[in-house]
Amino acid sequence: MSNEQPVRSSQFDVRCSEHSRFPTPNAERRTPNRILITHCSQQFGTVPALSDVNLAVRQGEFVCLVGPSGCGKTSLLRILAGLAQPTSGTAHLAGRVATVFQGQSLFPWLTAVDNVAYGLQLAGMPTGRRREIAIAQLRRVGLERFARAYPHTLSGGMQQRVNIARALAVDPDVLLMDEPFGSLDEQTRILMQEQLVALWQGSGTTVLFVTHSVDEAVAMGDRVCVMSARPGRIILDMPVDLPRPRTRYADRKGIAFRAVATRIWETLEAQVRRAQDVELTGEAVR
Ligand SMILES: Nc1ncnc2c1ncn2[C@@H]1O[C@H](COP(=O)(O)OP(=O)(O)O)[C@@H](O)[C@H]1O
Ligand SMILES: [Mg+2]
Repeated sequence: MSNEQPVRSSQFDVRCSEHSRFPTPNAERRTPNRILITHCSQQFGTVPALSDVNLAVRQGEFVCLVGPSGCGKTSLLRILAGLAQPTSGTAHLAGRVATVFQGQSLFPWLTAVDNVAYGLQLAGMPTGRRREIAIAQLRRVGLERFARAYPHTLSGGMQQRVNIARALAVDPDVLLMDEPFGSLDEQTRILMQEQLVALWQGSGTTVLFVTHSVDEAVAMGDRVCVMSARPGRIILDMPVDLPRPRTRYADRKGIAFRAVATRIWETLEAQVRRAQDVELTGEAVR
C-alpha cells in the first residue's frame, strides 16, 4: 500500500464546506476557499478579544465584517495577515495576501508611483518592470496623472486610492481591508465603494472588508458577517442577494436594500449596546 498523504487542497475544501452555514449550489461548491477560520480565539492577558470564530470565504467572494468597536475585527485581520497568532484554533489563508489597514499611511518621502512599487521592490522585481506595474495600478484607480506626486499633495481619498493600488500591485489572491474608508467624507466614500467594487468584479480576488457602516457593507458585500461584542464571534452571516451595482446613492434607498440593512442593524445594535455595557461595567449585563 502506498503511504501517500491525502491531497491537501481537497482536504481544505471538504473542511470548508463543513463550516459553510448555507447550502451552496454545486458550481459554488467547486470554488475553493481562500480563507478558513476554525474555532479561532484570541486572548490578550485577561482580555478575551475573540472567541470561537468560524468563517469560510470562497475565492472571488467579497465578505464584509461589521461589529462593535473593540470586538476583535482588527485582531482577526492581523491573525489572517500572519501578524499575530491565535491563542487557540486556526486561521488559514490560501494564496498571496495584501492589506489595506485602518489609518495606513503612505511613505511621505516616496512619490505615489514609488509607494505603489515599494512591495514589488521588496520582492526583488527589476526597476523598469515594477514601475510599469505601479503605473498600470495607478491608472486603474484613476491616478496615473499623479504618479509623481508626493502623498502630502494628495487628498485623503487619493491617498487611499494609492494604498489600494499598492495592495493590488502584488496581484493578491486575498485582500484584507480594515476600515479603509473610515476617515473619508461621505461623498468620497460612496465613490470609493463604487470604484473598489468595479476593481474587484471579475478579478477573482477574495476580499474581507471590515467596516462600521452597515450601508457600506450591504452596498459592497456578497455576504455580511456581524460580530458580537467582545469577545467577538460571528453571530450573523447574511448573504446579500441584491443585484449589482448597488453602491450608488439611490440604490441604498430601495426597499430590498433597506430590508437587508435593517436586519443587519438590528443584530448589530444589540451588540453595540452590549459593548457599551462592557466598556462601562467591565462585563456584559444584557
Ligand atoms: N496587542 C494588544 N494587547 C492587548 N489588548 C489588545 C491588543 N490588541 C487588541 N487588544 C484589545 O482587544 C480587543 C479587540 O481589539 P480590536 O481587534 O482592535 O477590535 P476592533 O478592531 O473590533 O475595534 C480590544 O479590547 C483591544 O483593546
Ligand atoms: Mg479595528
